Amino acid sequence: MSKVAILGYGTVGSGIYDVLTTNSDEIAKNAGEPVEVKYVLDLREFPGDPVGEVLVHDFDVILHDPEVSVVAEAMGGLKPAYSFAKAALEAGKSYCTSNKELVEAYGADLIATAAAHNCNFLFEASVGGGIPIIRPMRESLTSDRILAITGILNGTTNYILTNMASGKKEFGEALAEAQQLGYAERDPSADIAGGDASRKIAILASLAFGKDVHFTEVYTEGIENIHPEDFLYAKKLGMAIKLLSDTRTIRQHYYACVAPMLVDMNHPLYAVNSVYNGIMVQGNKVGLLMFFGSGAGKLPTASAVVSDIVEAVKNPGRHLPVHWSEEKLELSDFKTSVKRFLVRVSGSLEEKKELCERLFAPCKYLEVEELTGEFGVLTRTMSETEFEEAAAQMPGLITRIRLA
Ligand code: NDP
Ligand code: HSE
Repeated sequence: MSKVAILGYGTVGSGIYDVLTTNSDEIAKNAGEPVEVKYVLDLREFPGDPVGEVLVHDFDVILHDPEVSVVAEAMGGLKPAYSFAKAALEAGKSYCTSNKELVEAYGADLIATAAAHNCNFLFEASVGGGIPIIRPMRESLTSDRILAITGILNGTTNYILTNMASGKKEFGEALAEAQQLGYAERDPSADIAGGDASRKIAILASLAFGKDVHFTEVYTEGIENIHPEDFLYAKKLGMAIKLLSDTRTIRQHYYACVAPMLVDMNHPLYAVNSVYNGIMVQGNKVGLLMFFGSGAGKLPTASAVVSDIVEAVKNPGRHLPVHWSEEKLELSDFKTSVKRFLVRVSGSLEEKKELCERLFAPCKYLEVEELTGEFGVLTRTMSETEFEEAAAQMPGLITRIRLA
């Protein structure tokens, strides 16, 4: 019998408790022995909830209990999560977490600590919610050089964009629903402004390329500048607007970015809607792989954390190597990357066509019936720098969205 402790009894933590108690037979079979929740740590009381029987408020109770071999954390944030993780691993207890903030900031450090103490720092749920992506990268894609990863990595923003695209809900209403459904971060600006997705692509890039990528160095735009009108252009083009996270290596240079992009209907991520996430991984031998599933939510995320608990229980006293060193990976300047852009311009096409031709040709023009006093331009493929220079010369430029 293995005993585990859960830190945080919120959306994900209560899901972990639920999965461990309701799927105990399956878990015992897969882990090779029963797995029991000995403690749940939270700041609050939960009157009437059976968790009360195992609820504690002092982490030291867990840390100093030799029976606890695995700690699962779903508190979020860096403090006290980092010091709890460090102490647990130093005590030889494996640490399984959904906390991508922690994984992004201290992944390499905590993996090294786990290695030094013959235990494991596992973080399947930190990217893509319930989608198995970390374990396939660690264990299955070991014969490949990873060339690129492109994904929809945030459930909240995908939920909002999907609802806005269908015209069913406005931004605020869709966000409120995502919060109610337990998808959003405690501070939802982490979702909306792209910080959550950029942490996730930093984690995937660190695993793919073996060196530490910091999310503050990932070029990041969120969905705050996406407006209902943009979806009318997308529809006209037969495209969808998705918040894409991307990392790739081209001729020994490494790139990473997060931004809303237009994807056409042949793109594998076009049909990934609502809270679902999709992750495309391109290996130099395996070719293109695609992972799909719920990107957020109580039970899918908890299922991923529990899969880590099972892995930890199956490997007592044995560190499973993870190729993620503390050495920093230098990312190349995003401004050198190239894309086509959809540009919305106010005024009449007739008046501005000559200037558009000079700045963006060869280009394509679009007019949307529902929108008067503006038109759209699909530019040629341009570098970010080239586009910025051209855009600065375009009076009445309303907005621009990149094409994937
Ligand atoms: P919640 O806010 O719902 O839950 C966090 C829980 O931890 C709360 O009950 C909170 O208590 C408790 N807590 C916070 N600090 C402490 C502390 N110092 N000691 C004990 N308990 C503490 O968050 P989620 O469950 O949604 O998310 C948890 C983590 O999982 C985050 O890192 C999030 O990014 C990540 N994640 C979330 C997903 C989701 O779909 N929700 C999906 C994938 C990852 P109190 O409320 O009293 O502060
Ligand atoms: N807020 C995150 C999301 C939770 O919406 O994707 C899952 O990491």
